[in-house]
Amino acid sequence: MKIEPGMRAFVTGASRGIGAALARALAERGVTVGLAARSTAELEELAASLPGEHVVVECDVTSDESVREALESFVAQAGGIELLVANAGITHYGPFREQGMEEILQMSEVNWHGTLRTVHYGLPTCSTGPAARW
Ligand SMILES: NC(=O)c1ccc[n+]([C@@H]2O[C@H](COP(=O)([O-])OP(=O)(O)OC[C@H]3O[C@@H](n4cnc5c(N)ncnc54)[C@H](OP(=O)(O)O)[C@@H]3O)[C@@H](O)[C@H]2O)c1
Repeated sequence: MKIEPGMRAFVTGASRGIGAALARALAERGVTVGLAARSTAELEELAASLPGEHVVVECDVTSDESVREALESFVAQAGGIELLVANAGITHYGPFREQGMEEILQMSEVNWHGTLRTVHYGLPTCSTGPAARW
C-alpha cells in the first residue's frame, strides 16, 4: 500500500514500542493517526511530539465496546480510515510449561481476539484504499 499525505490510519498499541514508532513514521509522511491504547497520558505525549494533527483514543482491545467506541471516535474526528494497524499485543516470556493458564489466555485475548476485534469493527469503517475490498 502506498502511504500518501492526507491518509488516515488507526494504530492500536500506539503508546510505546513498535506502535509508537509506526505512528511516528506515518505522521512524518503526512498521515493523520488515530493513536489507540489504554495509556492515554503516553498517547497524549506522543501526539504532542509528532508532526501534524492526530487523535488520541483510549482503547482496550480486550473489550468490544472499547474498540467500537475508539474507532467511532477516530472516524468522527478524522472522517474515515484507509489504514488499520492491529498492533496491540503482550508477551509473557519464558518456557511455555512454566506459564499459567491465566497468562496464556491473556496473551490469546489481547494478541488474537484483540486483533480480530480491531479488524472486525475496523474494516467497515474503511471506505477507501485496499482495506475497502475486504
Ligand atoms: N518487539 C518484538 O520483538 C516483537 C516481535 C514479534 C512480535 N511482536 C508483536 O508486536 C506488537 C508490539 O510489540 P512491542 O514490542 O512494540 O510491544 P510493547 O512495547 O510492549 O507495546 C505493546 C503495546 O500494546 C498495547 N497494549 C497492550 N495490551 C493492550 C490492550 N489490552 N488494549 C490496547 N492496547 C494494548 C500497549 O499499550 P497500553 O499498555 O498503553 O494499552 C502498547 O502500546 C505486539 O503485538 C507484539 O506481540 C513484537
